Amino acid sequence: MLTILFLGDLVGEPGRSALIARLPELKKKHAIDFVIVNGENAAGGRGITPKITIELLRAGVSVITTGDHIWDQKEVIPFLDTEPRLLRPVNYPAGTPGAGAIVLETAKGKVGVINVQARTFMLPILDNPFHALESAVAQMHGETSTIVVDVHGETTSEKIGLGRFMDGKVSAVIGTHTHVQTADEQIFPGGTAFMCDAGMCGPVQSILGRAIDPIVRRFISNMPASFPVADGEVRLRGALIEVDETTGRALRITRVDEPSVATTGISPEAQPTT
Ligand SMILES: [Fe+2]
Ligand SMILES: [Fe+2]
Repeated sequence: MLTILFLGDLVGEPGRSALIARLPELKKKHAIDFVIVNGENAAGGRGITPKITIELLRAGVSVITTGDHIWDQKEVIPFLDTEPRLLRPVNYPAGTPGAGAIVLETAKGKVGVINVQARTFMLPILDNPFHALESAVAQMHGETSTIVVDVHGETTSEKIGLGRFMDGKVSAVIGTHTHVQTADEQIFPGGTAFMCDAGMCGPVQSILGRAIDPIVRRFISNMPASFPVADGEVRLRGALIEVDETTGRALRITRVDEPSVATTGISPEAQPTT
């Protein structure tokens, strides 16, 4: 059995610090073999830098996926061709820097990761994700049947559509981009684990990881504003997926919702009240 931790959009320094602090112990506790994190908001909420990519890989992340924020930090454009473990959506046209898929060797065999961007309410509107995913998976099947897809999209219907389309063809299809974790984790009849959105790794007293007031004021005033990353309590959200590496079928999917500091094991009732 191969255990994969998939974490949703990592937001800014609070999300990065929590992940780096918790990952070694989470990997040990759950015997995690492979870690996928969506890093499109890792740099102050906007994109990801080469330095942050290296930090996350050093902390134990296997592959970083992204989405519509991939180009926000310009230095990432030349960097993408030098670091294949940082993906951009696969459905960009031929000739775009970087790649949208990767296969990596692990002690339990090869694991493939594909990052695809949905189209409904998403900009830019990329190539049809169904066509792009079908050909990326067909190419990968010669190498491995353990494949995880990050579907970066806004609508539940498009993400479920892509998940159902992939049922029996990949090990897991997990959504990202909305930053709100869904409670629909399941294994489809063909053996593909699915969850509409992993949720985010970032500050919870926020609007999608950003400070609350500027966003509320923007909705009220329609005036331009900047949206700083929020502070306070951080949660790491995503899914733990167990895969039979001999068939690529998912055996189990569990929702992940971890605090930024490991719990002591003391039940809330036993703790003194303040
Ligand atoms: Fe995001
Ligand atoms: Fe996004």
